[in-house]
Amino acid sequence: HRGMFDPAAPDARLATRDLVHAVRRETALPVVAAGGIMTGQGIHAAMADGAMAAQLGTAFVACPEGSARPGYRAALLAARDTVMTSAISGRPARCLANRFTALGNLPPVPDYPRAYAAGKALDAAAQSHGEDGFGAQWAGSGVTQARAMPAADLVAQLLREMAQA
Ligand SMILES: Cc1cc2nc3c(=O)[nH]c(=O)nc-3n(C[C@H](O)[C@H](O)[C@H](O)COP(=O)(O)O)c2cc1C
Repeated sequence: HRGMFDPAAPDARLATRDLVHAVRRETALPVVAAGGIMTGQGIHAAMADGAMAAQLGTAFVACPEGSARPGYRAALLAARDTVMTSAISGRPARCLANRFTALGNLPPVPDYPRAYAAGKALDAAAQSHGEDGFGAQWAGSGVTQARAMPAADLVAQLLREMAQA
């Protein structure tokens, strides 16, 4: 989800690196970089930019410990890109392209949480017919670098990559 209060306001969609730099100019508070970071090299780069930590989401979706459904997991590992949509939650957010996002941002999308609740009902109905394409399949811009491995192995790999970087 975009970090914005007014979805109609201009959104430059800055890359995480540029955003970390911009935020650091504005505050001495610790900055946690999040969005599109998938590797130890990415964590290292974020910290070199002045972030005190990095937060990874998409990198862990394919880990077997997670609760992502098989269809979401398979789509994530096969994905070549992501799309932005407000259709799922009523707020602009990045996810995998699926049958839900193919509907487009049909105006007017009701505000959060109404759209989200309706979407969950739609997903449940679709699932009961064996259709996985209406799930909220959130995914960050680094999705093509997702790795399916146990979370502990992934963390160890991230640490190795950080050390190499
Ligand atoms: C499946 C999934 C669910 C998420 N749910 C939430 C959420 O409920 N609230 C929230 O603030 N961020 C949520 N996030 C965002 C993560 O907390 C994290 O900031 C983001 O995923 C970092 O970007 P990345 O996925 O490109 O690593 C979610 C991310 C994923 C992948």
